[in-house]
Amino acid sequence: MKLLGRRAKTAPTGGGSPANARQGGHRGKGLRRLISAFLLLSVLAAFTRPGRRLTRTVARRLDARVECFTEPGSSTYARFFAPIFGRLYDRVAEDVIAELTARRRARGGLVVDLGCGPGDLVAELSRRLKETRITGIDLSPSMLLWAGRHATADGRVKFLVGDAGDLPFNDASVDLVVSTLSMHHWSDAAEVFAEIDRVLRPGGVALIYDLGLLAFTPEEMAGIATEAGLEPADIVRERARGGIVSSFFIRYTLEGIE
Ligand SMILES: C[S@@+](CC[C@H](N)C(=O)[O-])C[C@H]1O[C@@H](n2cnc3c(N)ncnc32)[C@H](O)[C@@H]1O
Repeated sequence: MKLLGRRAKTAPTGGGSPANARQGGHRGKGLRRLISAFLLLSVLAAFTRPGRRLTRTVARRLDARVECFTEPGSSTYARFFAPIFGRLYDRVAEDVIAELTARRRARGGLVVDLGCGPGDLVAELSRRLKETRITGIDLSPSMLLWAGRHATADGRVKFLVGDAGDLPFNDASVDLVVSTLSMHHWSDAAEVFAEIDRVLRPGGVALIYDLGLLAFTPEEMAGIATEAGLEPADIVRERARGGIVSSFFIRYTLEGIE
């Protein structure tokens, strides 16, 4: 009885007829099948090796189609996408401060954000680290037009157009290199890791974060490390910690050689 009453509400025109009931039943069955197929595909994608490989390939192809280095892509990214990652930048800023403090470089040190985009992470770091020099580097001048609003007049916080694979810093001159969501765009990741290794001070550290789906696999990263002249074990891969947004990210750590 209750069921008939509910049907009469949602289908006022001839709601209770057998034909309508059959149609509703088919529709319900179709929806259930669709949901089951979606759940099955999600399980295959998340928990099987071929599924994960396929998901990664699709994600990388989709990402390659999203052009964010020129306008209007840079504005869209700055306005709509970067704000979504606010929680990640909070978490990364906490990691950066913890590392600098542990290494006694929280004052007067130099932090470099590779592929800083519109500068949201640099802004967060600058709010929390008032005595640290922070430089954002990015290939894209249009992204840096957005980032420029966070630069400071005294030059403590600045932005440079540049390639992560050819850094404008002396050997052993940087205390901490950080990067979020940029690594999967680096055309020659080995070149970038070799540069990071060159510019890091002894006792410095690099923290590179990227989406798990787009980040390099452990095998790929081992190849990149070797090509960069490092040992595969020098680049440590772990899941980023702290909250739901961070859980989608992988963090790579590289220590400056003492
Ligand atoms: C998806 S955006 C991420 C921006 C920012 N880090 C964030 O978390 O919102 C990727 C950025 O990496 C930059 N990029 C890509 N390859 C680069 C390279 N080789 N050197 C410097 N920047 C690079 C792009 O210009 C782009 O601004």
